[in-house]
Amino acid sequence: MPKSVDFLFTPFRVGKLVLPNRIVMAPMTRSFSPGHVPGANVADYYRRRAAGGVGLILSEGVSPNEVTAVGTQDVPNIVTAAAKAGWKKVAADVAAAGGLMGLQLWHEGPYRNPAKSEFPDVPSWSASGVKVPGKPLWPAMSEAEIETAIEEFVAAAVATKSLGFSCVEFHGAHSYLIDSFFWDQTNLRTDKWGGDWRGRTRFACEIISRTRKKVGPDFPLLIRLSQWKQQDFAARAAADPKALEAWLAPLVEAGVDVFHCSQRRFFEPAFEGSDLNFAGWTKKISGKPTISVGSVGLSGEFTATYGGEVSKPASLDNLVELMERGDFDLIAVGRALLQDPEWVQKVRGGRMSALKEFSREALATLY
Ligand SMILES: Cc1cc2nc3c(=O)[nH]c(=O)nc-3n(C[C@H](O)[C@H](O)[C@H](O)COP(=O)(O)O)c2cc1C
Repeated sequence: MPKSVDFLFTPFRVGKLVLPNRIVMAPMTRSFSPGHVPGANVADYYRRRAAGGVGLILSEGVSPNEVTAVGTQDVPNIVTAAAKAGWKKVAADVAAAGGLMGLQLWHEGPYRNPAKSEFPDVPSWSASGVKVPGKPLWPAMSEAEIETAIEEFVAAAVATKSLGFSCVEFHGAHSYLIDSFFWDQTNLRTDKWGGDWRGRTRFACEIISRTRKKVGPDFPLLIRLSQWKQQDFAARAAADPKALEAWLAPLVEAGVDVFHCSQRRFFEPAFEGSDLNFAGWTKKISGKPTISVGSVGLSGEFTATYGGEVSKPASLDNLVELMERGDFDLIAVGRALLQDPEWVQKVRGGRMSALKEFSREALATLY
């Protein structure tokens, strides 16, 4: 007998925001926004997940500027009037379907490939111009560029609120711009933006604290973090719990409400000697609510699916056990929800045999 999933359907409160259940749609880039403008098909896609009972939808990564933040075609921004109008419709449609949604703000930083971007002559931005450790590709960001990037994130977060969304998430994971400051392998700066954890978190903290001043106390600010890096899946940005504490403390002081702790497999322990995962440790150390993620309801992890591996539906027993134990508060679901807007209802109704396997063909359609 599978374990009861009732716990997943208990409400959870973040400040004044009450989520009806514990299931979050993970941010997933879909590249269906020509001209960087989300259209009616994008609004329909998110509306279907709201109607399908997702507790909180997090959008695909959204660029806070038109030049350095994005090298990927058809990725939406939140800069132009047309893109803002597109997002306003998304927010309204999701709300009309009874859903809650936040935008994920994503600056590709060193993972923007200038050659493939619309501005090939503009170097990519990152803490030290490093994508692969040891091989600087571009100049380190200047003080003025850092200031510009911070203010662009803040403006994008303010727009997210004013367009009708319930929260905002800053993408601080997976080696992109914010993460290039966190990780000591890609942040080699010796000024106030580098050095120890206090210095390496300063860029993110400025974004968070300046946003907080503009959006007020009740608009939840989420940040996504990952120990793993695209350059190195085995990397550990924080080598031990003490380092994790040094990473989290400045972010908590700056005003983070929820930590979204990215793993490729949620059930893997973060440090030796405990079975707590990254979200578990982050909750324990920071005292803040956390979201976990990674291979929920599927047999394989997401990067392997790009290579063609097919993931089969998998039991949720382990997930429910960790959540009932209080390890973390919310669980993000990526691919299972990308391909099936009714995944939540199927899980709630115990219709496990109706769950589908995931293959990369699902990426080609926006249903
Ligand atoms: C197609 C696709 C696009 C993704 N795009 C993003 C993104 O824009 N921002 C982000 O933080 N993570 C992104 N991810 C990672 C997911 O948010 C999630 O962490 C990952 O898929 C693991 O969850 P899953 O095993 O339930 O799919 C993406 C994943 C997929 C499959």
